[in-house]
Amino acid sequence: MFMPFATLTWVLVWAGLVLALLFRYGRRSSALRHLPLPPGPRPLPLIGNALDIPIAYQWLTYAEWSKKYGDIVHVKFFGKSLIILGSSKPAFDLLERRSSLYSDRPILHMQLLIGFDWCLHRRMMHQYFNSGNVDNFKSMQVAEVHQLLRNLHDDPQNYLRHLRHVMGATIIRVIYGVKDDELITMNQRVMKVVTQTLNPGSFWVDIMPFLKHIPAWFPGAGFQRKAREWKKDILATRVMGLAATKRAISQHDSIALQSITADMLERISNLEPALQDEESEIAENVAAIAYLTGADTVISTLSSFFLAIVRYPEAQEKAYTELMDVVGPHRLPEFSDRESLPYINAVVKESLRWQPVVPLGVAHATIADDEYNGYLIPKGSIIMANSWAILHDPEQYPDPEKFCPERFLKDGRLDPSIRDPSNAAFGFGRRICPGRYFADNMVFITFASILYTYIIRPPIGLDGKPAVPEVKMTSGSLSFPAPFGCIIEPRSSRISALIHN
Ligand code: HEM
Repeated sequence: MFMPFATLTWVLVWAGLVLALLFRYGRRSSALRHLPLPPGPRPLPLIGNALDIPIAYQWLTYAEWSKKYGDIVHVKFFGKSLIILGSSKPAFDLLERRSSLYSDRPILHMQLLIGFDWCLHRRMMHQYFNSGNVDNFKSMQVAEVHQLLRNLHDDPQNYLRHLRHVMGATIIRVIYGVKDDELITMNQRVMKVVTQTLNPGSFWVDIMPFLKHIPAWFPGAGFQRKAREWKKDILATRVMGLAATKRAISQHDSIALQSITADMLERISNLEPALQDEESEIAENVAAIAYLTGADTVISTLSSFFLAIVRYPEAQEKAYTELMDVVGPHRLPEFSDRESLPYINAVVKESLRWQPVVPLGVAHATIADDEYNGYLIPKGSIIMANSWAILHDPEQYPDPEKFCPERFLKDGRLDPSIRDPSNAAFGFGRRICPGRYFADNMVFITFASILYTYIIRPPIGLDGKPAVPEVKMTSGSLSFPAPFGCIIEPRSSRISALIHN
């Protein structure tokens, strides 16, 4: 994603780089500095390993490096240390057990330029999305999933659009308490932008922060023009969401009154006036962040699930048999069935593992020098846990490319000795995803409802045979299955009636 630079810009870039490096090396000192850095590909002067880092599917290259150099790899990236944790052991040792040292985030200047700081307000996110509170959202999740079933029934061709819509609509309803397709579209657009800024190094300005002072008209400063445009969109989304809730509350709308935004506004109105402005800004941010972090991640999981069940019809049939046994023929699955559905729970786990949504997690950063297995982890290092490699470790998950819910089961129950993939899929330590309980509920009720009502098959190819879609995931900080066709049919006419009831 690196952009071409005009010659003059290059001169500025190099000059700044040299100054930054001099400053950095001049400052270094700690009792651990005599230790060697972890092994890794040999860096070049100044640019380090910038040329070794691939533009696409980094997790595959990093997994190769881990095989070659060990499960902790060091690369130099324009003066910064990038540490790649290639297996569960160092990831848990460092990001979980030494969480107090490893839970910072690298400063991403492009994100600051666009006015998006998703690290803020973790406390507030936790307050609304903790394991106890997410029960309050279950009825809204069920209502939106039933709408999804109807949409799939009436317009199966556009299943991807319906998957995107169900998650967008659920989050908008939980957060803002409104049904607003324009808000969903706007948020979807902003999300695309934010994901582009997620990985350190996607923009030069992350590596050379002084570039943020370059004016937008300067040759090569296209990132500034992008940032200006994107910032406008992000701001508009926040303002629009809040305004929609306020409007609905003024009309005494009961759904709006139950929303997170309504609750935040209520609490703000009880504060002293001096605190109200700051808290209002937090409220706007929390709502926007929950949408922006929550929607696409779940959409990717739902799409991977579709891909899995098209490719593995036997898993689909086992799931249906279990659902019929437990739920019976007269109603749709409910959250209260969950305890009695080990196979569906195993499908949830396997979907999180099979194609991880965030294959390299979200970068952490260290706040001090540290030692691990005799190696120095310098202060300010960017730490990336290769979640894809951890979830595809053949020792933990034999035949990892296969979608196999059975790997989580023993004697018809969930087997606690198999590592729960949510540990890596949702990240690590203090930074672990605060939306994980909400996401897990959403994924469960969507999977159970679809498996109960539909058969999903590969399309028929030109040769008249089923054309089973390939497993092809997109590259990027969030990974999605490349779009594929499938046939979606209700299990029976009785089911069609149930869906529309
Ligand atoms: C299947 C769905 C999801 C997956 C796989 C997922 C995954 C992740 C991962 C890997 C991280 C980085 C954790 C780390 O740094 O170690 C993260 C962070 C985050 N997630 Fe999720 N997530 C999902 C759904 C959600 C939902 C539904 C929400 C909100 C309602 C949400 C909100 C957040 C936020 C706010 C952060 C940043 C936390 C921080 O920086 O402290 N996520 N997520």
